[in-house]
Amino acid sequence: MSEHFPVGRELFDDVMVPNYAPSAVIPVRGQGSRVWDQQDNELIDFAGGIAVNSLGHCHPALVNALKEQGEKIWHLSNVMTNEPALRLAKKLVDNTFADKVYFSNSGAESNEAALKLARRWALDVYGEDKSQIIAFKQGFHGRTFFTVTVGGQAAYSDGFGPKPGAIDHAEYNNLDSLKALISDKTCAVMIEPLQGEGGIVSPTPEFIQGVRDLCDQHNALLIFDEVQTGIGRLGTLYAYQDLGVTPDILTSAKGLGGGFPIGAMLTTTDIAKHLKIGTHGSTYGGNPLACAVGEAVIDTVNTAEVFEGVKAKHQLYVDGLNAINAKYNVFTEIRGKGLLIGAVLNENYQGKAKDFLVAAMAEGVMTLVAGANIVRFAPSLVIPNEDIVEGLARFEKAVAKIAG
Ligand SMILES: Cc1ncc(COP(=O)(O)O)c(C=O)c1O
Repeated sequence: MSEHFPVGRELFDDVMVPNYAPSAVIPVRGQGSRVWDQQDNELIDFAGGIAVNSLGHCHPALVNALKEQGEKIWHLSNVMTNEPALRLAKKLVDNTFADKVYFSNSGAESNEAALKLARRWALDVYGEDKSQIIAFKQGFHGRTFFTVTVGGQAAYSDGFGPKPGAIDHAEYNNLDSLKALISDKTCAVMIEPLQGEGGIVSPTPEFIQGVRDLCDQHNALLIFDEVQTGIGRLGTLYAYQDLGVTPDILTSAKGLGGGFPIGAMLTTTDIAKHLKIGTHGSTYGGNPLACAVGEAVIDTVNTAEVFEGVKAKHQLYVDGLNAINAKYNVFTEIRGKGLLIGAVLNENYQGKAKDFLVAAMAEGVMTLVAGANIVRFAPSLVIPNEDIVEGLARFEKAVAKIAG
């Protein structure tokens, strides 16, 4: 029997490393897009665990997959393969440009694998001079030291001593700035096909096509970080499928496990062959429990009905947020795509995104921020329309408290 003692928010400060500042509310259970906290207060979830709970909380297909696999086999390590990993890999390959899959446990690990693969490919094929990696300012690719350095935000990457080298940053949506950096020494360009953490910024069609063309001209690999944009979030299985631009390597995580930790790196046979036996690995990557859940996520999300739903729900959010703005004049713009939406605060509310998040929580709706000036929404892809309407009504009360 485990010992019982109070597990309130105060305990966090006693026993946890202080790198997070969690809210006072501790949710204890969830169903669909609603969660309940320790005091049984009900909240509507517009945050989705930061674009992770692609099918909300406790979706029956995912619960069943986890239970079924939980009674079969939990873990083997990569000394052996397993059926769920093979099934999930086959489905990812069948539904994308990719021929090969590498499984990890998170977004950062998927990106770490992608960057190491790109470096290894360039070394094998062109020699050691081709090592430059270009990414974009305000990008975010995870918190390992390689990925955080590739992400273009000093606030996250500085203060840890010498960084991995040969990494440069161009301006997003500015092809000239990429042109000025790229050369035959560039081994890869890593980009989010919509910047998430960096402020919900969509690429223009000319820019994203131009990035592909510049990579081709300089024999550089194009890596799409689809950790946040993948698994139906923008209305297609992966965002690249609606952009007319195909990457050489694609990384996935977050929504892929719907809340169970898993990541994947997808690529072609020709590139994959450079990660030879022993060059890279992970104890848990391809874990049967994670892959069984991932397979259930793909089976449930990868349907025309879910993708159409994402587009319709996008419009419900945009209309609702515009109506709130018409009354309270707090946003300059509602932007984003699918169910990754940013409400950009106007000059009167600069730096106050967190205040809106806190006020919304007090009214019973969980939201996110993307930087200090943007309130972000990344709900379940199958959030019921009634929950969107009710959640926006609660959000409006929060806006009224701040701006009314
Ligand atoms: C685009 C992108 N890449 C990578 C990551 C890192 O993923 P993880 O936190 O699972 O390592 C994130 C997380 O927010 C992300 O948004």
